[in-house]
Amino acid sequence: MADYLRALVAALIGISFLFLLLLLRQRKKSRSYEKRLPPGEMGFPWIGETLDFYRALQKNTLFEDFIAPRIQTHGKTFKTRIMGSPTIVVNGAEANRFFLSNEFKLVVSSWPASAVQLMGVNSIMEKSGEQHRLVRSILTTCLGNTGLEALVPKICSVVKGHLDKNWGHCNQQDEKIISLYKTAKFLSFRVTCECLFEMGGEDEVLFECFEKVLEGVFSPVVHLPGTSFWRAKRARAVIEKVLLKLVREKRLKMMEEQTRSSSSLSLSLLSRLVGAMVRGEITEVEVVDNIVLLIFAAHDTSSFAIAMTFKMLSLNPHCYSLLLQEHNKIRSKKTKEGENLTMEDVTKMNYTWQVARESIRLFPPIFGSFRRAITDVNFDGFTIPKGWKVLWTAYGTHFSEEYFKDPMRFDPKRFEDPISPYVFVGFGGGPRVCAGYQLAKLNILIFVHLVVTRYDWSLVQPNETIVMDPLPFPSQGMPLKVSPKI
Ligand code: HEM
Repeated sequence: MADYLRALVAALIGISFLFLLLLLRQRKKSRSYEKRLPPGEMGFPWIGETLDFYRALQKNTLFEDFIAPRIQTHGKTFKTRIMGSPTIVVNGAEANRFFLSNEFKLVVSSWPASAVQLMGVNSIMEKSGEQHRLVRSILTTCLGNTGLEALVPKICSVVKGHLDKNWGHCNQQDEKIISLYKTAKFLSFRVTCECLFEMGGEDEVLFECFEKVLEGVFSPVVHLPGTSFWRAKRARAVIEKVLLKLVREKRLKMMEEQTRSSSSLSLSLLSRLVGAMVRGEITEVEVVDNIVLLIFAAHDTSSFAIAMTFKMLSLNPHCYSLLLQEHNKIRSKKTKEGENLTMEDVTKMNYTWQVARESIRLFPPIFGSFRRAITDVNFDGFTIPKGWKVLWTAYGTHFSEEYFKDPMRFDPKRFEDPISPYVFVGFGGGPRVCAGYQLAKLNILIFVHLVVTRYDWSLVQPNETIVMDPLPFPSQGMPLKVSPKI
């Protein structure tokens, strides 16, 4: 018995000693982190500086009210706590290069739980490694230059049809007030649905559902009736039903075409995704989630870029006259009435693309995004502990004198010469660089061409404010006075 007691006491002492050792190691580790953590305020437990962050975000003054004052006090790399997560905010081209190019190696993309559930747990934004590469290669084939060439006349038809119906035809002389932002949003939505996913007809109902989903994207995950998240989930269920039907019908059609050994397999993005599903490379839910994500990624961003391009053109008339010359020249080469643009025409819109990029620099549709450290990360002389979040923002370079002289001035000519890598990051960078960059470019350029060559226009409220919820948009929808050119 005495032996047994002695053994028990020895075991207890041993366990306590081990526990103490572990505790000391943990303490030492966290103290050594503390020494090497960037400066900054963590605020109250859990809530941290979330309220300041959101307040600034909603007013679209994240840089002026949240980031710039902290850079001034703590430097370009600082710590904070947002939505319960300890977070390091990084600024500058070197930080962008380091974190964006080390995706999957040191950090992974990290969206709020609500965004992941609503955009799609199985979409590309949640994939890494081989699975990410597979979906990415499908997107690149379709959304690269060659894949998009065939889309130019299709996009032209969708945009022209909408403008003729809603903005007035050249034989009608009446002036109208339209919301540019809503028009651009609906059109970018239709272009994505019709040109990439062969959808039509259900446009308006689906568009409303996507709007409802967006309202819940950054809201708390609360599954209770009446909450934004609950409403968004219900809207997503409607979208899923429509998309499931679309995917299944496409699958049947592709099977039939194959058995009839038809060579006319369409090369739309829908066909390619469903093709990968038939080959067993991706699942049905992955196809549906990727379609949802792509529709979101495409229309909420392009529409804001279009709206800001027009705002800046209106505020800078000399830029507008240069841009108009570019488009009138392209139009003058068309011999037939109503002749569509070609990819060759689009490649001549150099100045317009400079104007659009300069507008995106000043008003990035995606201000930045979160990453999560998957290991302890050393950067800028600091250690970012595993599990912490990292926030990179476009403002860190776009609004910095270090990269752009007189950064708040609108000057499209900045883009005449190539910009150093990771300085203009409106479309991100590294393995997650925007997969739809070329399509966004086409959408913007074609829309600008068809508007400026066919309509006289002016802003109704040149000082309209920009707000965010959760993405930026003009608070009044950017009313525009338009009348068809004679
Ligand atoms: C002006 C319009 C657009 C802007 C400013 C924009 C911006 C961005 C940015 C900043 C990212 C990187 C996000 C990150 O690093 O976390 C991104 C990723 C992405 N974008 Fe875009 N985007 C635009 C249009 C589009 C369009 C038209 C599509 C597709 C049709 C698209 C599809 C995507 C996808 C799929 C990703 C994720 C890529 C991945 O995870 O590998 N975007 N976009």
